[in-house]
Amino acid sequence: MKFFLDTANLDEIRNGAKWGIVDGVTTNPTLIAKEGKPIHDQIRAICDIVDGPISAEVVQTESKAMIREGRELSKIHQNVVVKCPLTRDGIEACSALSKEGIRVNVTLCFSPGQALIAAKAGAYFISPFVGRLDDVGATGMDLIRQIVAIYENYAFNTQVLAASLRSPTHVIDAALAGAHIGTMPFKVMDMLFNHPLTDKGLDQFLKDYRKVFQEEPASVR
Ligand code: E4P
Repeated sequence: MKFFLDTANLDEIRNGAKWGIVDGVTTNPTLIAKEGKPIHDQIRAICDIVDGPISAEVVQTESKAMIREGRELSKIHQNVVVKCPLTRDGIEACSALSKEGIRVNVTLCFSPGQALIAAKAGAYFISPFVGRLDDVGATGMDLIRQIVAIYENYAFNTQVLAASLRSPTHVIDAALAGAHIGTMPFKVMDMLFNHPLTDKGLDQFLKDYRKVFQEEPASVR
C-alpha cells in the first residue's frame, strides 16, 4: 500500500518525508487555501520535497476551463497529477486530459457507480472519501471494498486512492480492503507509529542494559 500525505503544509510534508514512507501527496482547494500561497508556488515547493505523485486540484467547474487549468497545473512538474471533481464536466475533462497523457485523480467519489465512470474515463486515481461517508451515517469503507472488487472484475488500471481517512483504523481497513493508496493527514500517519508495548518494551530494554553497563548508548555520549 502506498502512503500519501493529505496536506499542503510544507513542514508536515518535510517531517513525513524524513521517515522515508511518504510515496506522494494529495491537496485540495481547502488545503491549498489554508497555506495562503498561490497553488502553482505551493505545488512546486511540494514537488521539491516528495518525489512521487502530487495531486493538484482544478478550481474551474466548466469542462473546457478545467482542461485548460489542468494543462497548466500539469506543467508545474512531471509528478503533478491533476485532480478533477466527479461531475459531468470533471469527467469530460478527465477523458480529455487522460487522452493527452496527463494523469488525473478523480475526486469526491461517493458511490461505486461514480467510480466506474471515472475508470471508464481513464482516471489514473479514483478518490473515494471514507470519512465524509461516515459523517453522514454510511459505512465509508464499504465503498472501498466495492470499488476494489469492481475494478478487479474488469482489470481497470485506475488505482484506488482511499481518501478522507481520519484514523489509523481507517488506514488499516483500507489496506485490508485492497486500496492501492491511502492518503492521510500528517497526524494520522504519526499515530500509526504508536503502541504502548513498543514504548514499554524499549524502556525496559534500556533499563536492563544500563543496570549492567551503567553507560549511555554510544550515540548520546
Ligand atoms: C482527498 O484527497 C481529500 O483531500 C481529503 O482526503 C479529504 O479529507 P477530509 O474529508 O478529512 O477533508
